[in-house]
Formats: sequence, C-alpha cells, structure tokens
Amino acid sequence: VFKHLGIYGAGQLGAFLCQAARKLDLETTVIAAQADDTATSFADHVIIAPLDDMQATHELLAACDVVTFELEAVPPDVLRELERQNAAGKVRVAPAAKDLLLIQNKHSQKCWLQDQGFPTAPFIDCSSDVTAAEAAEQVGLPFVQKTHRGGYDGRGVQIVRDTGASTPFWPGATIAEQFIEPKREVAVLVARSSVGELALYPALEMEFDPVGNLVRYVVAPAPLSSDIAQQAARLSADVVVAMNGVGLFAVELFVTPQGQVLVNEIAPRVHNSGHLTIEANATSQYEQHIRAIVGLPLGSTEQLKPACMVNILNEPDLAGAVPLAEPGMKRLNSSTYLHWYGKAPTKPLRKMGHMTCLAETLDLARAQCDDAMASLAAQKGELA
Ligand SMILES: Nc1ncnc2c1ncn2[C@@H]1O[C@H](COP(=O)(O)OP(=O)(O)OP(=O)(O)O)[C@@H](O)[C@H]1O
Ligand SMILES: [Mg+2]
Repeated sequence: VFKHLGIYGAGQLGAFLCQAARKLDLETTVIAAQADDTATSFADHVIIAPLDDMQATHELLAACDVVTFELEAVPPDVLRELERQNAAGKVRVAPAAKDLLLIQNKHSQKCWLQDQGFPTAPFIDCSSDVTAAEAAEQVGLPFVQKTHRGGYDGRGVQIVRDTGASTPFWPGATIAEQFIEPKREVAVLVARSSVGELALYPALEMEFDPVGNLVRYVVAPAPLSSDIAQQAARLSADVVVAMNGVGLFAVELFVTPQGQVLVNEIAPRVHNSGHLTIEANATSQYEQHIRAIVGLPLGSTEQLKPACMVNILNEPDLAGAVPLAEPGMKRLNSSTYLHWYGKAPTKPLRKMGHMTCLAETLDLARAQCDDAMASLAAQKGELA
C-alpha cells in the first residue's frame, strides 16, 4: 500500500488532490513554485522550488512512494529521472512520464492521435519555414495556429483569419489546424487504474467566453443526444486505453453540428472542467485519480444531479471581492458551493475560485450560479 503522495505543482488542482489524499489516508508533499500557492495550505509538506530543480525532485522522491502531476509542464529531464526511478521500482509515477512527454508537445500529440486513427482536426506542422499562405492552402482559412510547446489556458493558440498582417503568423515551432466552427466543446473524464479498470464520467460541456478564450461555465451532464454521448465516451475511453494511461485523463472533444466527434487534446491529469465532480458525482475526479494511481478499486462516477460550475475570474466586476479569508470551500446554501483559491489577483482573468450549483435541471443550476455570482460581485468584502 502507498502511504505518501508527491505532486508536481501546487495550484487549485493540487489543492483538491491533497484534500482527496487526506480522505484516503495518504500523506502529501507538493512542489510549489511560490510559498503562497493554493495547495501549500492543504499539503502536509511543501518543497518550494522551480519545476526544473533536480534537487527538489530528489527530495520529493526520498519522501514519497507515489508521484503524480497537477500540470503538464514538467521539464523533460525531470520526467526522465522520474521514469528511471519508476523503472527501478523505487517509486510509482503515474501517469507515465512518456505520456506527459507526448502531450507536452501539441505536434507530437496530434501525430499520435492521427497515427492511432482517432478523429482530430486536420493539421500541418509549420516548424520548418511554412508560411501563413502555405498553411492556409493546406488547412483553409481561418485556421488555428498553436505553438508546439508551452501553451495553456488558450495561450499559445491563435486564430489566423487571413494571410495579411492582421494576425501576425508566429515564427518558430507551431502547427496550423483546421478551424472547427461551429462546434460544442465537451470533455470526458476517464479514469484508468494500474490494473486496467476503467471508469468514465458523464460528458461535461465547456462554454467559452468570447473574450479571453477561456472557460466560463461547465455543465454536466452535457446536453448531447445519447448517440453522440456514446460516441464521445467510446472515443475517450479508446484514447486512454491506447495510451495505456494510468490515472485520470480529460479528453477534450469538439462536437460539430453534423454530429462528428473530434479529439482536440488530452489532459493527462485532473482537469479544471471537472471541479463540479466534487459535489455532483459520487466520487470526485480528484479521489478517482488517486484511487487509480495507487491501485484502489475505482469509485462510482454516478452523477447525483444536473450541475453547473462557473469560474470566478479576476475581472473588474469582482475587483476586491475576497469572499473567504482563507482558501477553501463554503456552502452558501443547500446546493451552492463556493470554492476560493486564495490567490493574489496578479493577472486579469486569473482563476480566483469557482462556484458549483446543483439543481433539478441544467438551466436552473446555471441560473443559480448567476445569482450567486451577482451577490458575490455586490458583496465585495468577506462573506458572512
Ligand atoms: N481547431 C480548432 N478549431 C476551433 N477552435 C479551436 C481549435 N483548436 C482550439 N480551439 C479553441 O481554442 C481553445 C484552446 O485550444 P487548446 O485546447 O488546443 O489549447 P490549450 O491552451 O492547451 O487549452 P487549455 O485551455 O485546455 O489549457 C479550445 O478550447 C477551443 O476553444
Ligand atoms: Mg484545451
């Protein structure tokens, strides 16, 4: 049995993992870039170091018997060291370092999806002097340009609408992908355990904010026809099985009006779209991830009620709102849950917290979220 979980990264995802670990009687150590990262309030031990600090990795390995990630941007050298220690039987690393190495690079990820025969938007590699005009010829206009590495939360992604000067084509290693529009964006959370047990959550729908290109609402179960829901589930499970993935994976999908289901990308970790599983599902994605990696039987993914989550972003409406003095959760009424990450509002649109509402229908859950957000904006100071 495993006793001590190590986590790379210490944001809100790490914080929720630490809380789930405690419930499962595991001790936790996180590697945090900053002393005030959210998960430092929830971990048993904290190592303050940048992710590329090999000494921090050795410290983590000395303390832990199982190691995981709340983010993908772990330097390849560190991943290779973790792989060596895993192969030597000194520690279990899950998901495998090879999965992170594959997914860190959007080009290698797309090639893998294509080689495996999974449906994904057509793309070309633009790393060797391909021009915007050549890309447009191959995948059409507009197209989506993505950097091979380093993108997240919509950074490193741009829509190129014409080959003139209006959207400068990025130099360097990128891909150009066909622009899929209109579409719905759906994610399926898939847990696969170290012995190959699989558990899928009902698909979630992510609603993007037109400004900032980030997720505003998540609703579940996604309002899809049963045929599309089944297609999405089967495809997502097949992707994780093909990777031989261990842990919880979020498979991000596009669903076109014609009913085509395409894989956008794979997150080899718990996902921001899955926060609502904390209250809405019998087992949260965080507990499920830990169960999967330590070889416990997976929990039930049953959804108890329709749910809506809204991200609380650092934007003018909410300027100065500090609803909780400490990071944590407050139940505002019987079916409204406020989570506050306790982060400094350093950047516009930074994720400061989220709210989850459960109701009899998705529309009611969303209306409840909107009401709670309006009160939050009106309140400013700490909630009573
Ligand atoms: N081919 C496409 N066609 C249309 N829209 C796209 C396409 N690729 C990406 N997008 C839009 O850009 C968003 C971000 O793209 P992607 O998921 O590849 O990048 P990311 O920054 O890694 O994402 P995340 O926000 O999950 O960290 C998508 O959620 C989608 O809204
Ligand atoms: Mg994405």
